[in-house]
Amino acid sequence: MNAPYELYETRRRTFDGAWDGELTRFLMPYKFAIDEVCTKLNVLRQEFAHLHDYNPIEHVTSRLKSVESIRAKAVRRGCGFEIEAIRAAIFDIAGVRITCAFISDVYTLFDLFTRQHDISVIEVEDYIAAPKANGYRSLHAIVEVPVFLSTGPLHVPVEMQFRTVAMDFWASLEHKIYYKYDRELPAALYDELCDAAATAAELDERMQRLHHIV
Ligand code: GTP
Ligand code: MG
Repeated sequence: MNAPYELYETRRRTFDGAWDGELTRFLMPYKFAIDEVCTKLNVLRQEFAHLHDYNPIEHVTSRLKSVESIRAKAVRRGCGFEIEAIRAAIFDIAGVRITCAFISDVYTLFDLFTRQHDISVIEVEDYIAAPKANGYRSLHAIVEVPVFLSTGPLHVPVEMQFRTVAMDFWASLEHKIYYKYDRELPAALYDELCDAAATAAELDERMQRLHHIV
């Protein structure tokens, strides 16, 4: 079987002797956990389309955190570079983002997903109910997904972000601006972004009302 492209990528980018070899073995289950989550979402999506002639998911994206990003986070967390320490301290190595049209779909999908018996919810952060100071909104959850390896089952954490199209639009622009200004936003731009976040939230509420009428 061919190893997924990402695994070659991470192997190629490995240069720290302490990580060599072990790294692919460490990252592989996270990739499998992403696949499991995506399959579950796909089942829900198809079932919904079939039963209700309605699709609550606009799109799903996923990413495996790069070795560089894992290292940078390990430095921020001060947990060191030992594989076991990283496993215990960093929960967003596997990430899946689900974008929906309406706020009600965000919570419906979250419920349908987290109610599944093989999924354990480790942490929920509802930045829709309580947005961040800059206006960021999304529903975050760390879940554990079982992955069945030849050596036995492994419970792998996955960071899930559920959001609307409007939240996603705002977040991707904010992300670009934040990095363009090297994390030092001029006050006027910061205010403008907060304002845009409020507009996005307002749009979500209006669309939700219209959706309810239809
Ligand atoms: P980090 O993972 O180091 O960020 O710490 P954390 O786990 O406490 O962060 P949090 O759960 O708040 O956010 C995790 C992820 O949500 C980030 O990696 C981003 O993808 C997204 N996110 C959180 N806050 C923001 C924000 O203000 N703007 C944007 N664009 N994305 C955000
Ligand atoms: Mg978090």
